[in-house]
Amino acid sequence: MTQTEDRIPLSTEDTPLVPLEKIVSLCKRRGFVYPNSEIYGGVSGIYDFGPLGVELRNNIRRYWWWSMVQTNDNVVGIEGNIITHPRVWEASGHVDSFVDRLVDCKNCKRRFRVDHLPAENLKQNKCPVCGGELTEPRTFNLMMETYIGVVEGERMKTYLRGEACQNIYLDYDNVLKSSRMQIPFGICQIGKAFRNEVTPGNFLFRQREFEQWDLQFFVHPSEMQKWFDYWKARRFEWYKGIINHTDRLHFREHGPDELAHYAKQAFDIEYRSILGWQEWEGIHWRQDWDLSRHSQFSGQDLSYTDPETKERYIPWIVETSGGVDRTFLFLLLDAYEEEPPSDKDKEGRTVLRLHPWFAPVKVAVLPLQKNKEELVTTAKDIHNHLKRLMVSQYDDVANIGRRYRRQDEIGTPFCVTVDFKTLEDQTVTVRERDGMTQIRLHINELPAYLLERVRWDYN
Ligand code: GAP
Repeated sequence: MTQTEDRIPLSTEDTPLVPLEKIVSLCKRRGFVYPNSEIYGGVSGIYDFGPLGVELRNNIRRYWWWSMVQTNDNVVGIEGNIITHPRVWEASGHVDSFVDRLVDCKNCKRRFRVDHLPAENLKQNKCPVCGGELTEPRTFNLMMETYIGVVEGERMKTYLRGEACQNIYLDYDNVLKSSRMQIPFGICQIGKAFRNEVTPGNFLFRQREFEQWDLQFFVHPSEMQKWFDYWKARRFEWYKGIINHTDRLHFREHGPDELAHYAKQAFDIEYRSILGWQEWEGIHWRQDWDLSRHSQFSGQDLSYTDPETKERYIPWIVETSGGVDRTFLFLLLDAYEEEPPSDKDKEGRTVLRLHPWFAPVKVAVLPLQKNKEELVTTAKDIHNHLKRLMVSQYDDVANIGRRYRRQDEIGTPFCVTVDFKTLEDQTVTVRERDGMTQIRLHINELPAYLLERVRWDYN
């Protein structure tokens, strides 16, 4: 995947890390993210997405789907439901093992996950913030409970799914029988997951309701290493291709005591932001854990018979598991920049240097003046044509400089200005967000010019 020629690679070394508050504030002010149930005081770790947020999320989801499902002949997609049979979560190990251990500071009352405490503090039983004494660790299960049925006594307790990928194992056999897939092949899904996180926080980073994307790739055991290495490398390149600051990405291997109960080996793709190095996606060596456990708990044989050799075996699984929400957050942290005044912009500006693929609004159409009817009519005609092809905004409020800055702040890659010359020769000014360069194009050339730059399947 190549980037469009117009994109200017950013020098990353001197760029300061963006404070999280700036992103939280921009998100609320411009309609990306709102606190959920805000009029009732909110619920920690739960957010809603506004008009621009939903566009950005849709673009993120679509791009992942396009690159993981649509362009791979050996991968198909499913959409499983949030609620499943409760036995699923016993088989998966989540009822017994999906736990966090917590300690509280007796002095400042802060709460910490034991696995997040610095080793020294753990050893000395000392709060990392105030030095106070810590309580004994307590264990909490992260699964969110719910009930199926209405009659008391007949209701069945189950769980909102704690990881979205379980549906893939449940549907694996149906996919195999209803499609022409043969091992090695993969199943993808994007869907909500729920966790009673004991320490939600850092905005979208750790929420209680969030959206995961998973590839579960089923292989013969003898080919596990090959496919693990293959997907690990591909997913790293994928993330590199969507950010500006590529030196803020690395792998971190899980130590033996932090591996999830289902993983024999795991690498996190981590991004460096003001939150430090943090997980963006996990690449997990799940081996035969999931299909073996579901075979055992359901009594259904989930083994695979090779059509040529007739060998029967439980497939092993490579998992790549990331999320829409962390991608949303890290893309904003990566793209946000405050530029001081310059020759090109005397007042300075805030700019979201999002890849044009992800920008919530692709083009803004601006008449130079709003009190000149012909300018307004022509601009509205252009907008009405473009909005059928991509997300376009019409804006005639305030002077042109302020309107450019408003679009820069939400990451709109192109602004089209309709001026008096347009009325003479049907050309418009196309201003590009990152370099603030301007070119003149005929109105008829606009759709192809813009589409080529904002649609990933054109690259
Ligand atoms: N099926 C494997 C699994 O669930 P995980 O590392 O717990 O593995 C995978 O989660 C991805 O889901 C993470 O890399 C992250 O992108 C996202 N994720 C996990 N917990 C999250 C939370 N509380 N809030 C937002 N995203 C989360």
